[in-house]
Amino acid sequence: MSGAGARLPRARGRQALEALIAAEGVDRRVLEALRSIDRADFVPPDQRHHAYLDGPVVLPRGQTTSQPSLIARMVEAAEPGDDDTVLEVGTGYGFQTALLARLAAHVVSIERFPELAEAAEANLRRAGIGNVTLVVGDGWEGHAERAPYDAIVVSAAAPEVPEALAAQLAEGGRLVIPITRRGSDDVILFRKRRGEVTEERLLTPARFVPLVRGAARTEGRRR
Ligand SMILES: C[S@@+](CC[C@H](N)C(=O)[O-])C[C@H]1O[C@@H](n2cnc3c(N)ncnc32)[C@H](O)[C@@H]1O
Repeated sequence: MSGAGARLPRARGRQALEALIAAEGVDRRVLEALRSIDRADFVPPDQRHHAYLDGPVVLPRGQTTSQPSLIARMVEAAEPGDDDTVLEVGTGYGFQTALLARLAAHVVSIERFPELAEAAEANLRRAGIGNVTLVVGDGWEGHAERAPYDAIVVSAAAPEVPEALAAQLAEGGRLVIPITRRGSDDVILFRKRRGEVTEERLLTPARFVPLVRGAARTEGRRR
């Protein structure tokens, strides 16, 4: 990652990142929500100098928090509405969770690493975001207790749409997920109509960590 962003004063760096995402034509509602969240609060302390670069940032356990402009695009495509319940798979440090929580009534977010879920919980609490249920477990299985979901956003790549997620999506619901095809990942928007989850459009090619089957620990933990 370049050192240029590291030398930007904090406020200027943050504004530059927001301006860059705005210039991509992201929906105004998503932009406003984005402006209310400081990405520096959702990366490890030793990575804060990278927080305002439009690139992935390294997290513990070999994971990353995704590029902010890509997160904005994925959240925009999921169309989280004020009254919606949204499922997120792959919490990481909670940046996208925070964005979804600003836009929807409630967010259920699943992370397989307890250590990351704990950090995300602390980050969300510090940011004053309370409308989130964090689940430590396997996102392949979704979270049936709070289904159906108006929107589902998956932040790790799978070879196909997990069956449980298709089943837990509400009629008319949107599912945004990177699908691994021929060795690369395509971020795809799916929609459920008459009980069928069908591909609507390709958002962008991108690189994601894989959606690993199984929780990192066998016992699930809920908050
Ligand atoms: C790209 S990172 C998270 C990005 C995050 N949403 C953000 O705001 O930047 C993907 C996350 O998915 C998690 N993950 C991978 N497979 C999973 C699974 N089966 N269930 C739940 N989480 C999973 C990883 O541990 C990692 O934290």
